[in-house]
Amino acid sequence: MKKISVIAPSNIAFIKFWGRRDDKLCLPMNSSISMSLNNCFTITTIERSKKYTEDIVEIRSYKEEKYKKLVVSDIKDQNIFDQIERIRKLSGIKEKVYIRSQNSFPANSGIASSASGFSALTSALLLVYKQEHLFNNKKELSKLVRLCGSGSAARSVYGGIVELKTGRTHDESYAVQLYNSEYWDLVDIVCIIDSSSKKVSSSKGHLKSHSSEFEKARQVGLRNRLKQIKQAIKNKELERLGELIEADALSMHAVMMTQTPSLLYWEPGTISVMKQVIDLRGKDILGYFTIDAGANVHVITDSKNLEKLLPYLKKNEYVKDMIVNRPGKDVYITSEHLF
Ligand code: DP6
Repeated sequence: MKKISVIAPSNIAFIKFWGRRDDKLCLPMNSSISMSLNNCFTITTIERSKKYTEDIVEIRSYKEEKYKKLVVSDIKDQNIFDQIERIRKLSGIKEKVYIRSQNSFPANSGIASSASGFSALTSALLLVYKQEHLFNNKKELSKLVRLCGSGSAARSVYGGIVELKTGRTHDESYAVQLYNSEYWDLVDIVCIIDSSSKKVSSSKGHLKSHSSEFEKARQVGLRNRLKQIKQAIKNKELERLGELIEADALSMHAVMMTQTPSLLYWEPGTISVMKQVIDLRGKDILGYFTIDAGANVHVITDSKNLEKLLPYLKKNEYVKDMIVNRPGKDVYITSEHLF
């Protein structure tokens, strides 16, 4: 019997990907750059033992009391059971596992729950099935995490600022850390507008990105934007970084909105926060919005602007809750077990 627990950070993409080059291998359409989040994370505990006759996976999210047991036949959860099988095969060990996983934030709402979840799951599985060398090799770990069905999850093996490289093959697409968590005191204020599950998953949405007439234009624009954002991060220029983050989020949502069927993830509260941060910049309070496949808005800022922004965002009638994040750490082992 062996029990292990790990904590993995979620992340927010500054340069996002939408669409996949290969759906089975989960190869993203373009390279992406993200910041790992210290207060949005998943803790996962896995026990491997002869006493288990089947794999059991139980998940609990933000403020929920009870764990929900995942069912093998549920197509949405199939990726998780496939990952258990994939790593068990690598090890040659036959024993089954009992898994409990808990998020520090609402799932499926544009806070990349699958990112921290899949990174924590893959890491803990590798450790419990004696594949420490793969856990310690973050390049290999990120590739394995990607196979779980989420490109953004591959970025969640590192802390700080991370790039996920696109590629044509499984070996070419992996994450690299650009800067560690100490590099820059950036902040992501997650403004929770709606904590219910999103209606169309990213996985489904990616499949239709080609139907947007803007997809090609986005890919052309991205070549420069990737270079420019790396320069802004290198020079620690918040204003330049913010401009590029907003431009990229709007470009991705333009593709989402114009694909068939159209995907409009925004709610009135989403636009309210977007406009609020634009207005606040007129008062020299610097915050920049970005939005994933959900209604919630991430406001990217730094320590200096954080205290000035918070009272305004708190007053926004649409903002139900806020999570303040600094750059998070690499996925790590913890002695805190969930059972
Ligand atoms: C909009 O296929 O990684 O967040 O499982 O929902 O995280 P999730 O989807 P995934 O696509 C990510 C899409 C995105 C942009 C990004 O994070 O790059």
